[in-house]
Amino acid sequence: MAERAGGGGSVKRALISDIHANYAALRAVLADIREQNITEIYCLGDVVGYGPNPCECLDEVIRRCPVTILGNHDQAALFDPDGFNPVALQAVYWTREQLESPNGSPPQINKRWDFLGELPRTHVEGDFLFLHGSPREPTNEYVFPEDVYNQRKMDALFARVDRYCFQGHTHIPGVFTVDHEFLTPDDIGHQYRLGDEQMMINVGSVGQPRDNDPRACYVVIEDSVVTFRRVEYDVDKTAQQIYDIPNLDNMLGDRLRTGR
Ligand SMILES: [Fe+2]
Repeated sequence: MAERAGGGGSVKRALISDIHANYAALRAVLADIREQNITEIYCLGDVVGYGPNPCECLDEVIRRCPVTILGNHDQAALFDPDGFNPVALQAVYWTREQLESPNGSPPQINKRWDFLGELPRTHVEGDFLFLHGSPREPTNEYVFPEDVYNQRKMDALFARVDRYCFQGHTHIPGVFTVDHEFLTPDDIGHQYRLGDEQMMINVGSVGQPRDNDPRACYVVIEDSVVTFRRVEYDVDKTAQQIYDIPNLDNMLGDRLRTGR
């Protein structure tokens, strides 16, 4: 089965997503990744937005991730977004200010903008498709657990997946089966073996989990086995940073404590 999985399944690899400028969470996840001797990390988008450390998180992702996908919040740092609520929009403008102000040397600042400007919307490797949102609309469309009841939507999404699709965006980790089931990490003992059938897997969020578990979430793939991992980090520290920045709404700190 490892052979079948092609380029994406034989290497031990970490998949992280939706860091949302939460540097404390990112550092904790990178430490957990290092402890498992994983050297290859892919990022499925939303490095920035909502959180207090966009520059630090970008610098780390630029250094560590040979593949990073464009998220809707990364795109919003570049172009004015559609459909963002006022809290998210205010965070976009604040994030832009951070990226424009002299946080680092001029080459470093240019490097961040160039990196954001060149991010791909998808990445394909063997049987593996990596993206932020959905196979139909890679940057913006959400695939929520309750979408399994929308047969037309699920069929349309799976029609665009060769075999395995890895994604983020909802901040809710789990496995979507081609039989229209959603399996939470708890349902599957935090581990899932990729088989012959198609699969969409949401890797969860490093910096703003929304599945009622405040711990940072990411995924490891090795030999076609997908493992969902949770990592504790200093939630209070990030929350306090958010409270200290007037342009980041306090609810963005509050929600980190509950993982919602
Ligand atoms: Fe996100």
